[in-house]
Amino acid sequence: MMNATTRLADRVKLKDAHLITRMTDIAEGLADVIKLGRGDPDLDTPAHIIKAGQDALGNGATHYTHPLGLPALRQAIAANISAYGGATYAPENIVVTPGGQHAMFIIALALLNPGDEILVPCPGYNPYHQAAEMAGAETVHIRMTMETNFTLTAEMVEAHITPRSKILVLINPSNPTGTVTPPSEVRRIAEVARKHDLIVISDEIYARLTYGNNTVQPVASLPGMFERTITLSGLSKAYAMTGWRIGYFAGPPDLIPALAEINHAFAISTAAASQHAAIAALTGPQDCVEEMRQIYDARRIALCAGLTEMGIPYAEPQGAFYVYANVASTGIGATAFCERLLREGQVLMYPGGIYGDYTDDFVRMSLTQPVERIREAITRMKTVVAAIRAEAA
Ligand SMILES: Cc1ncc(COP(=O)(O)O)c(C=O)c1O
Repeated sequence: MMNATTRLADRVKLKDAHLITRMTDIAEGLADVIKLGRGDPDLDTPAHIIKAGQDALGNGATHYTHPLGLPALRQAIAANISAYGGATYAPENIVVTPGGQHAMFIIALALLNPGDEILVPCPGYNPYHQAAEMAGAETVHIRMTMETNFTLTAEMVEAHITPRSKILVLINPSNPTGTVTPPSEVRRIAEVARKHDLIVISDEIYARLTYGNNTVQPVASLPGMFERTITLSGLSKAYAMTGWRIGYFAGPPDLIPALAEINHAFAISTAAASQHAAIAALTGPQDCVEEMRQIYDARRIALCAGLTEMGIPYAEPQGAFYVYANVASTGIGATAFCERLLREGQVLMYPGGIYGDYTDDFVRMSLTQPVERIREAITRMKTVVAAIRAEAA
């Protein structure tokens, strides 16, 4: 009799329930949990976007759409990309997908042969690693540290290049660290990509959510980069639309037809009503994005102040809506810390290992609760940290 391990295909590496699933199960059994786990905004999708989706359903948007996505949506995406300093894309070079995460798998399956290497920042959003694994490719982790605020540099990329290097992933702003790679460094990284003939997947899904003076330089609009860059993004984060499942990728004309075909095989098309809502999001008033950005900024400031008070170091969050903090001083490891904090303090956050961190020192906290709840989370954290420190003393 075959057991599950022998029935599963060799390419499946994770054979048990994911830590996120296990922690969610624990949280379900507890009362009054403060959820700083998933990167899913607590804020509702703005009302005019919801209405557009509802109206679309009433008006018969209940069918498949064009396989690449509604032409009006692809036009709106093209206009949005260029309005924020990105490249000029023709609508036929944009593919709408059921979320940006889905796009990662399409791109990996279309571009990576077994044995090819994909360079991924570490820590960095983990599905890139899983997508490469499914394609039989090798993930080369570029380790970053808090000393440089987890900033990826051209030198770090170059040090990891081999004759098999094919793709570089740039996640800017970064999940989980909240780092924004400065525009000057993005230009230097682009030069390395050109020199070594790399394709760049530029994940710009958090690009509209930056703080202070930080800004994001889109990769595809840099000299010589359009033909070697796939821009990956979506509406989940900037418009609080995670549940609508709208992502997209845009790239050079020679690659898009093949990638679009794989997307068609996987998804046929993205939900029609969601696409109509996305048109409203991109073509309607944009103050909702700025309002949400300011809300995250206030939460970010409150959370960082609490961590500083506790003596817990963190990377400066320059974008996205996460704070990445070093809990090594608790002495029990970030994974154990997250479990204790959840069980004893009813605060949910994730250890950095989920995001491919090579240490068990960090936790990622999402800014997905109001300021008062974040302050309450800090109070609970203080109690649990004090209990752990007292045990060790
Ligand atoms: C860096 C990054 N890229 C892409 C995604 C995918 O988001 P979605 O599939 O909702 O578009 C996420 C989600 O957390 C992310 O953090």
